[in-house]
Amino acid sequence: MSQRTFSIVKPDAVRNGHTGAILAEIEKAGFKIVAIKKMSLSVEQAEGFYHVHAERPFFGELTKFMASGPIFPMVLEKDNAIADLRKVMGATNPANAEEGTIRKKFATSIGENAIHGSDAEDTAAFEIGYFFAGYELK
Ligand code: CMP
Repeated sequence: MSQRTFSIVKPDAVRNGHTGAILAEIEKAGFKIVAIKKMSLSVEQAEGFYHVHAERPFFGELTKFMASGPIFPMVLEKDNAIADLRKVMGATNPANAEEGTIRKKFATSIGENAIHGSDAEDTAAFEIGYFFAGYELK
């Protein structure tokens, strides 16, 4: 069944000039880009987005990194989008990511890992609503 998920091309990938290549991988995998924009987050906005990780030891590093430069948040659609995007992204730590995945190709470390993808339906709904208004999601 057609499903939507949320993704971000992270600051490391934008800085390194990989945005276009990552979008190409996503489209090649069959996703439709429903909405996309370029923006920069404040540290406070990054903290709100990643609030579920607030108690993790890496929270400060993660939110500072996510505010370190422009990002491309986007909403993607296909059958089984949430699970399929996570397959195309590869493991969080690029050292463990399978050959051919976005993180294997473009991530540099577990923190600077090129792309974010929602991990479940409830987080996808929260994350889409954090970045996009309903009228942007036609
Ligand atoms: P993401 O899928 O965006 O969701 C949470 C992020 O936390 C994750 O990708 C990683 O980039 C980051 N993360 C997870 N573990 C660590 C870690 N040990 N050190 C730094 N960042 C981490």
